[in-house]
Amino acid sequence: MSPTAAADRLVIVTGASRGLGHALAQALLLPGTRLLTMSRGPCELPPVAGAAHEDWQVDLAEPLPLSERLAAWLHGLPGARFRSVWFVHNAAALSTPAALAEVPLLELARAARVNLEAPLLLSAAFLRATAGWSGRKQLLFISSGLGRTAMAGAASYCATKAGIDHLARALALEEAARPNGARVVSLAPGVIDTDMQVQLRGADPAAFAARSRFVDLHQGGQLLSPAAVAAKIVAYLGRESYGASPVADVRDSA
Ligand SMILES: NC(=O)c1ccc[n+]([C@@H]2O[C@H](COP(=O)([O-])OP(=O)(O)OC[C@H]3O[C@@H](n4cnc5c(N)ncnc54)[C@H](OP(=O)(O)O)[C@@H]3O)[C@@H](O)[C@H]2O)c1
Repeated sequence: MSPTAAADRLVIVTGASRGLGHALAQALLLPGTRLLTMSRGPCELPPVAGAAHEDWQVDLAEPLPLSERLAAWLHGLPGARFRSVWFVHNAAALSTPAALAEVPLLELARAARVNLEAPLLLSAAFLRATAGWSGRKQLLFISSGLGRTAMAGAASYCATKAGIDHLARALALEEAARPNGARVVSLAPGVIDTDMQVQLRGADPAAFAARSRFVDLHQGGQLLSPAAVAAKIVAYLGRESYGASPVADVRDSA
């Protein structure tokens, strides 16, 4: 399907070049879907008949121009055509696992921008541009257990994930008061066998006391495959009750 052909579902996924985001993008690229992905690296997916995929190679640590670009792109779409419109912020940056004072400032700034400033601005642009659309709108933020339980050596990650949870709570209240408002969920996905876990296991044990927990998860075979977690998240997105709890954990779903 060409990008201009009819589609009845619009899906946007950030951080889709690898890991969970790539598995999500693959699972969501179904016939009748128009998919937009955003990462620095390419999101390569096998073509699907009746679906269209557009990939933007962009840096989410520069979210202001990207949000303006997203708004302009959405304004150019035939919004009335989409029965469902989903925005999934999955991208995240983990700064070097170590005490905050030991982490380079640039890394901290980039993590804060990718993990929190980007979903804040992209959500605002998305909600503004789709305000008059009649389809069912859903926002999904991929959160983490570390947004709900603190861990030394991961302060920027813990803080930004807690921030995205609270962004979801506040947005859910705002959207519930708007005509055809979006349903909003910040969802913890569980532990997944991706580059992020490689980064945690590869940390300096002298700087990151929790490193052994991540080594144990890996050695104990407790990491789930990105495809298995993506399948659970796609099922969660498809629930009629989606948005009933703005902060949730996919492991609690059936
Ligand atoms: N893995 C786990 O065990 C685990 C546990 C709890 C929560 N999570 C959450 O699950 C989500 C996916 O994590 P993952 O494990 O799949 O991570 P990952 O393997 O590190 O992948 C991260 C994705 O985010 C993108 N990204 C990072 N920085 C970016 C930037 N500046 N601009 C654009 N894209 C950027 C990366 O693409 P590029 O590098 O190509 O830009 C990549 O596609 C994250 O929100 C993470 O916090 C993961």
